[in-house]
Amino acid sequence: MTSAPVRSGIPETGEWTSRFATAPPYRPVSTPTVGRTPYRRPLDAERIAALRGDEPLTEERTGSDEALLAHRLLMNIYESDTLFLPEEGMAARQQDFEAFYDPATRLAADIAKPAVERYVFSFLDRSVQVTGAWDLESVEAHVTAAIDEAVHAESPVLRAIDESADPVRATETMVAQMALDGLTEATAMSQNLGGAYGPEQSELFKIFVDEFGYGVFDAKHSTLFAELCRSIGMTPTAHHYWFFYLPTWMTSNNYFYYVTRNRLGFFRYVGAMTLLEATFAPWFAAMSRRLKAVYGDGVDTRYCDEHAHIDQHHGRMAVRDLLLPIARKHGPAAMRELVRGIEDTKVLGRLADADLVAQMTWHPVAVAGGDRPPTGAPVRPGQDFDTRVAAADERLTVLSGQVELHHSPTGDPLTVPAGSSVVVPRGRLFGVRADRDSVVATTSSAG
Ligand SMILES: [Fe+2]
Ligand SMILES: [Fe+2]
Repeated sequence: MTSAPVRSGIPETGEWTSRFATAPPYRPVSTPTVGRTPYRRPLDAERIAALRGDEPLTEERTGSDEALLAHRLLMNIYESDTLFLPEEGMAARQQDFEAFYDPATRLAADIAKPAVERYVFSFLDRSVQVTGAWDLESVEAHVTAAIDEAVHAESPVLRAIDESADPVRATETMVAQMALDGLTEATAMSQNLGGAYGPEQSELFKIFVDEFGYGVFDAKHSTLFAELCRSIGMTPTAHHYWFFYLPTWMTSNNYFYYVTRNRLGFFRYVGAMTLLEATFAPWFAAMSRRLKAVYGDGVDTRYCDEHAHIDQHHGRMAVRDLLLPIARKHGPAAMRELVRGIEDTKVLGRLADADLVAQMTWHPVAVAGGDRPPTGAPVRPGQDFDTRVAAADERLTVLSGQVELHHSPTGDPLTVPAGSSVVVPRGRLFGVRADRDSVVATTSSAG
């Protein structure tokens, strides 16, 4: 045996998590965005190793730094089993391709996966309790009420864009979260196209084939999403804005992998997917209007317009041709899971909205003067970049040099010169970078 890998704090995953997290695709980079390659998704193996698996995340901690680390890990675990090929061809990426799909790393991913899933998702068993006896009538009434409630609710995220002092930055912070799913749209759905489960399999395929533009690349939803990104100057490579995914948005995205990669999650998936498909149309119509208001006529809103149209049909198809026939055929245990998927999605949506609104409405300001802590930590040009979530309100004081505070995927970072400080509120995601040797002191003002 050569040197023993660092042991992870998530029990049962032990050295496997570390083997995975230290593999070449997951090594650090020094820039706030990741190069145009699908094979680079930085993980901080040391911070991951400190996660306490015996203390799984609670609902209150779904927006925490621990959630950020665990969901980055889990997303990479899932996506290392999803096909990505480089846009510019394999010639320059052969080695990266082989490293990303290396069988030993994939094995580590498969072994680590169940414990990481438990760590991040077991809170749903406490947050969502579906009890009682369900029959077809009560399931139908439940799904109808859930859809009704969602389509009539005002979106706090779109409202935050309306009211934002910097609507471009706010919108792009949202688009970067949407890219989690948008650039690989319907990948989770594709997990259940195989196998044999009767007419419902063909109904799911009908929805899927629309998501894939009926086989026309230019009409595929992920292509439309990439065009939206291009039209507003954002980079449409998967995970280019890796460091700026909020933990709660990764939670929702990983949830769909969780309930589709594990076949026991099938019924939950159908409930979750149905609620989304049935509520997307009005949301996307509203988003299309916001995009035009923020960017003018130059923005390509076809991604939103397509959903505003097709999801009226998908919602009806998912309820009438998929969810209800499945409930009828598979009975009470399946019904409970269908309802559970609907309720899980409501909780995840609420958490993601709140987290995003808080990030969008945070406008950090550098303030000169104030207390000057005696010591700080060095920030050097070219060092590894990372973002983290503040565990408490934190004041960063620049003792020497000058740093950039990165708090959104696009837009200029905030420059904080020596002698100034900036407050990062609890729960906010940020990263620090310097173009000259600097020293920064971090003090917690609460928590
Ligand atoms: Fe879609
Ligand atoms: Fe759809």
